Amino acid sequence: MAHDLVIVANRLPVDRVKGPDGKTTWRRSPGGLVSAIEPVMRAHDGVWVGWPGGTEQRLKPFKDDGLALVPLSMTAEEIEEHYEGFSNGTLWPLYHDVVAKPEFHREWWDTYVKVNRRFAEKAADLAAKGATVWVHDYQLQLVPQMLRELRPDLRIGFYLHIPFPPAELFQQLPWRRQILEGLLGADLVGFQLPGAAQNFIRLVRQRVGHKTHRDLVYLPDGRTVRAAAFPISIDAAGFQEMAESEAVTERAAAIREALGNPKKIFLGIDRLDYTKGIYARLRAFGELISDGRLTVDDAVFVQVAVPSRERVEHYRNLRDDIERLVGRLNGDLGRIGRPAISYLHTSYPREEMAALYRAADVMVVTPYRDGMNLVAKEYVACRIHEDGALVLSEFAGAADELRQAWLVNPYDMNGMKAALLEAYEAEPKELARRMKAMRKQIAQHDVKAWADSFMTELEDEGNNHRKTL
Ligand code: G6P
Repeated sequence: MAHDLVIVANRLPVDRVKGPDGKTTWRRSPGGLVSAIEPVMRAHDGVWVGWPGGTEQRLKPFKDDGLALVPLSMTAEEIEEHYEGFSNGTLWPLYHDVVAKPEFHREWWDTYVKVNRRFAEKAADLAAKGATVWVHDYQLQLVPQMLRELRPDLRIGFYLHIPFPPAELFQQLPWRRQILEGLLGADLVGFQLPGAAQNFIRLVRQRVGHKTHRDLVYLPDGRTVRAAAFPISIDAAGFQEMAESEAVTERAAAIREALGNPKKIFLGIDRLDYTKGIYARLRAFGELISDGRLTVDDAVFVQVAVPSRERVEHYRNLRDDIERLVGRLNGDLGRIGRPAISYLHTSYPREEMAALYRAADVMVVTPYRDGMNLVAKEYVACRIHEDGALVLSEFAGAADELRQAWLVNPYDMNGMKAALLEAYEAEPKELARRMKAMRKQIAQHDVKAWADSFMTELEDEGNNHRKTL
């Protein structure tokens, strides 16, 4: 069946889970992307193409709560070379300021091309004449061009959820030109921040040699491509509602109680990723205790580290480093029943996250580089009493919007310690002033507004393109 809207993302918005009876079923993944795109999909008879995780080969298209989903399988070798290799061993560190060293392997690249082609071919099969295809993220940057070659009638949008690096770093990539040309297959290329869009435009001019003017690229065939910023957000009203519920309110109180009702709770929630600055923030907190500025009777740091990409070496090493640090800090600084750090290596459903946000007095988000960081926005949406402090890295995309957070440079240990202490000691009036402003920002710019503005602009760009056909 042909569809008017095709969403293409590396992952499907559902995970395969095994029930107690051994049967596998699908469970909606907790991310916000699907909730943003769901209304658009329903309105346009949409379909979502993605990898369901794992190596299962014979999965058929199916519906989940009315949403049409098409699983694309990967072999064990493709997972290793496309997903763990080129996507997460090459592009992820390269696009995040080379916080870790990217690896360049020709066989990873070849498999990336092969898997991108499979996604493009599937999207071409599913799209109705003149349909809109919206491609997501760094794992699929070649899809726009491949798809345009197969189906010049389509309107194609691409959105990058992670940062797009400056030319000085991007240039390291042996396949830099192919990636730029891959993205130029789209009518509209969306980024989190204006700086990322400018990096892209500059690279296209320098490396591919196309004419550009402001946010437009002029291709030799007469087509234009627009590159612009669309900062992603969360379902702010949904989070607020959940945070207000009785179940979450009670759970938040139970969490405080279980932690021994300390004066203040610090909280970090991240995928266990080396870009997130988890090690540095725990060290800063530990130093505040060993300096005597904080005590384990007054403060505890809850760190939730969500398991991620565990077969990639950098991630395994990071886990070892952090767990060694947590052990050392608790051994040196904790007392019976009063650890300095409460460390959890697990993932939680949204309700439990909302309860943690409600229970926490100081939310600590300190990435070295992050496209947006939705945890920072979720915390703000859950602070229904306009209290609580957000300590936020200047290098998270969210810092552009959440200006009233305590902004920190995660490379500056003393600066980070000072900000943690200030946030800890802030008066309720000061907390309310900052939180109120941030809540207003998030209520006005939610994920629905994000999806709507991207779709509207894509429609406009696509119309321009049709005029030239
Ligand atoms: C980031 C990326 C997503 C990715 C997610 C989880 O948010 O932008 O594309 O899906 O991390 O990572 P994973 O490797 O588990 O898909």
